[in-house]
Amino acid sequence: MKKKKLKLKKGVWILLILVVLLIIGSYSGIQIYKDYVYKKTYQYKLIEHGYSLEQAKILEEHFDHDEIEYFLNENVDERIFSLIEEKYFLKKNWKDYLAYMDTAKKKNADEVVRDINTHLNHKFYEQMQDANLELDTLMLVNKYYKLPSDYVPDDLVNVSTKYAWGDAGSKQVREIAYNAFLDMWNEAQNDEFYLMINSAYRSYQSQEKVYDDYMKKRGERYADTIAARPGSSEHQTGLSLDIFSKNNSNKNTFKDTEEALWLKDNAHRFGFTLRYPEDKVNITGYGFESWHYRYVGIEAATYIYENNITFDEYYAYFIEK
Ligand code: DAL
Ligand code: ZN
Repeated sequence: MKKKKLKLKKGVWILLILVVLLIIGSYSGIQIYKDYVYKKTYQYKLIEHGYSLEQAKILEEHFDHDEIEYFLNENVDERIFSLIEEKYFLKKNWKDYLAYMDTAKKKNADEVVRDINTHLNHKFYEQMQDANLELDTLMLVNKYYKLPSDYVPDDLVNVSTKYAWGDAGSKQVREIAYNAFLDMWNEAQNDEFYLMINSAYRSYQSQEKVYDDYMKKRGERYADTIAARPGSSEHQTGLSLDIFSKNNSNKNTFKDTEEALWLKDNAHRFGFTLRYPEDKVNITGYGFESWHYRYVGIEAATYIYENNITFDEYYAYFIEK
């Protein structure tokens, strides 16, 4: 009896040992397999290549496998991380950012992102694209985007002589911008400011004249800082207004008037944006125009105002993408 009991016990032990061995074996097998699988991941390859775990995770989050291959074929490039952190980083531009850092010897990620997003890596007027008319009040017209010579907005309305210098019917603007201007005019009036328009819609041909006049008098270089070449003027969109006050229509001194300061801090509430600010000359390509306002709608104008960017930058990041 006793012997039989002992035999049974032995059997149980062997069984137990076998089970334990099986568990250990399977565990190690799983670990080896997991290791094998991990070594095939891009995270592992990136770390092997020299990136930290955190960096590898960032790259995996932003790039697909083909793009990660690029990083694996190049030396470790830490610049990509400062670019990714930029507020207006656009994934589609990542290779251009890196190339621009090399060719333009630019180091600041914010400048690189801004320049590439807005095409500032190209000279003004060197690479013109057609303005996207379908974007309506958000269309961009500048030294990279032009309007067709025959583009005339189909909803121009006459500006009353109450708000504009010149003969009745001599100034026109798109209806949506006019209505916004009237709201703004009334509020300015409540603060005892009398706003006056001295330029609104300009046809391609009239812009040609404006630009040529400056060019003949002062040459191309100067003309380009003050007037748009035909096709590149926002005035042709019918959405831009040159706004002064009844007391002051002087381009040199208007900027210091109360009306100019009021416009600067309030126009966005009505959908207008100060298009060529003093501290953005290098982006817009124009000298400070304290009078030139462009209707872009309240949402865009408010964002631009609150984030101290230009419409060019806003367009690149939010509209064109
Ligand atoms: N003065 C502005 C830039 C224009 O000519 O449209
Ligand atoms: Zn203007």
